[in-house]
Amino acid sequence: MDGTVRFLDQTRLPNEEMYVETSDCTVIAEAIIALQLRGAPLIGIAAAYGLVLGVQRYKHAPVEKFLQEFEESKLLLMKTRPTAKNLFWALERMEKSIRLTSIKDSSMLFDIVQREAASIHAEDRAMCDAVGKFGAELIPQNAIILTHCNTGALATGGIGTAFGVIHTAAQQGKNIFVYADETRPLLQGSRLTMWELKNNTIPSALITDNTAAWTIKQKKVNVIIVGADRIAANGDTANKIGTYNLAILANEHGIPFYIAAPSSTIDLSLSSGDEIPIEERSADEVLFISGKRIAPDGVSAFSPAFDITPQQLITAIITEKGIHYPPYTVSLTKASGI
Ligand code: MRU
Repeated sequence: MDGTVRFLDQTRLPNEEMYVETSDCTVIAEAIIALQLRGAPLIGIAAAYGLVLGVQRYKHAPVEKFLQEFEESKLLLMKTRPTAKNLFWALERMEKSIRLTSIKDSSMLFDIVQREAASIHAEDRAMCDAVGKFGAELIPQNAIILTHCNTGALATGGIGTAFGVIHTAAQQGKNIFVYADETRPLLQGSRLTMWELKNNTIPSALITDNTAAWTIKQKKVNVIIVGADRIAANGDTANKIGTYNLAILANEHGIPFYIAAPSSTIDLSLSSGDEIPIEERSADEVLFISGKRIAPDGVSAFSPAFDITPQQLITAIITEKGIHYPPYTVSLTKASGI
């Protein structure tokens, strides 16, 4: 980065590829809230760069001022979205990078935070490759895969998590076909995952969310793989609303249900999914599509952005460290031991 951050506004896809360039931390925070920047790993990367933007004007200021601005930008970014562990993980890591040094010079501290943000970004790319490689071992030849939301390059710093597994299996020459849930209300599946599947020429078809059960049965789906926003110590997993439905369907149809995520998504401080904060978004995201009202005036809507899939419905959790099986309290503790 060169004093500015340039990012693709995901709310405009697939119709428009519009980039936003900013040197303002507030713009990054607002972009995360508006889902211009979204997907748990990318939220973490964006927040790290947002923090760099927040302090860059103070690199020649007294160190107390630099640290005060660092704290304010961090608090602003922390308030953007509550569910993705990667947001808090990245901000904590940024803070640690300056807390663990005895340096008391703003410009040197600025170099440290800038380097830390770049490392978080670069490590995410490598993480995706590793998740892809481990996960591809679980994808059989002639797999019919179902996925939900968007977990690809748009949502990460690399090839993606669940999408990274799909991408790697395709690169390995496996014959696969992917069904993507459209993912109401904000259509990350149809707008973003289908865009990535098309760009990577992976054979695929879009389905509406309520077609999942019938598709599993009729099209003989044999793998369901999704990403995660936060994984509790017992394996309970928060991911895009509708993920829990798919886990129940996988169980009913006797097919594996996999979660793919970086180990930074694991939150060992929470013993179960009951403790994961679930973001609730504006009812308007359900009541309107592309600015057009689709329900009568005056009615209300319930709009949780995520749900929790209980660990007993999850066949395995794939991270950059490997494939983790139940009991997750044991395997995830090992996976997040850094
Ligand atoms: O609300 P979003 O679009 O940020 O939700 C994204 C998801 O639920 C993804 O599945 C998750 O963040 C993993 S992205 C690699």
